[in-house]
Amino acid sequence: MGKDKTFDVLVVGDLNVDLIMNKINKMPQIGEEQRADEMDLVMGGSTAIFACNIAKLGSRTEFMSKLGDDSFGKFLLKEMESHNVGIKSIITDPSLRTGATIIFILNNDRMMVTYPGSMEHLAMNEISDDILGSARHIHTSAIFFQPLLKDGLAELFKRAKKMGLTTSMDTQWDPEEVWDLDLKNVLPNLDFFLPNEDEFIRLAGQPDLESALKSLEHHNTCFVIKRGAKGALMVHHKKRTEITAAPITKIVDTIGAGDSFNAGFIHAYLNGKELETCLEEGNRTAAVSTTAAGGVDGIISYEQVAEKAAEMRRLRN
Ligand SMILES: Nc1ncnc2c1ncn2[C@@H]1O[C@H](COP(=O)(O)OP(=O)(O)OP(=O)(O)O)[C@@H](O)[C@H]1O
Ligand SMILES: [Mg+2]
Repeated sequence: MGKDKTFDVLVVGDLNVDLIMNKINKMPQIGEEQRADEMDLVMGGSTAIFACNIAKLGSRTEFMSKLGDDSFGKFLLKEMESHNVGIKSIITDPSLRTGATIIFILNNDRMMVTYPGSMEHLAMNEISDDILGSARHIHTSAIFFQPLLKDGLAELFKRAKKMGLTTSMDTQWDPEEVWDLDLKNVLPNLDFFLPNEDEFIRLAGQPDLESALKSLEHHNTCFVIKRGAKGALMVHHKKRTEITAAPITKIVDTIGAGDSFNAGFIHAYLNGKELETCLEEGNRTAAVSTTAAGGVDGIISYEQVAEKAAEMRRLRN
């Protein structure tokens, strides 16, 4: 259904640069200077990584965000275009500065500092009916960095559902740790909720995963809870499906693994796959994304992900 729409997915959210300092000798300490053995400047932003990866998998993708009129902004527009993501809906505002995240990586641990800049300024009412109506599905993420969008989410998903779109959301971490998302009003119009386990527990305001699930599983939403190296858990209409993480022999970094998971899952869904298959394809897309630096370089195409995942399985057996 909806193949006559211009886009399969409209992705609304954060876009910024990531400056990755990898293989540092020690986590940064006040008053000291540390050394990194590797460095990369790449496109970042949870929603942007999702957009690039779902486009590479083959979904027709339009991106909506806000950038400053600066060198980071220009770099990001080029990057998005090079990954085949539609950029016509990206707003450039000369009064704002494009955001940036500095990421320090030490083994499998990381520390990040984000200057949100322009991404904080995108508001729900800037998403017109024309833009919304051009897609079959809407996805958003990193909502705690986008307060104007966060406050309008219940309304946005309601509008989207009325216009016949399906909806999905990841939240990412709340840097303020307040977790003030109006789930009661957001979930009734949200088809797929894709946070990680820690985020899910906090958003539900519960002490652990079991009670968080109990408190929300009466909703029709399909909950897909990502559990890092443990894999993921899907709960839909109280039915639970667990998947273990793919065995990866050489992880470069796990930046964007969660967003790549979301891309694999939603791409499969938009191609009419069963939910269990969506879970499997999300899981394998995440695994493949960890084999290159940053969130987008690991994924090339749907076929490449399928082949690489099969190779990982062969190596395990
Ligand atoms: N060490 C690992 N080995 C195998 N797969 C992994 C590993 N870490 C993450 N993954 C895969 O990536 C998925 C998402 O990871 P995670 O649970 O860390 O999500 P996240 O915290 O949302 O990630 P992100 O930092 O991108 O937001 C997992 O469900 C799993 O499929
Ligand atoms: Mg995440």
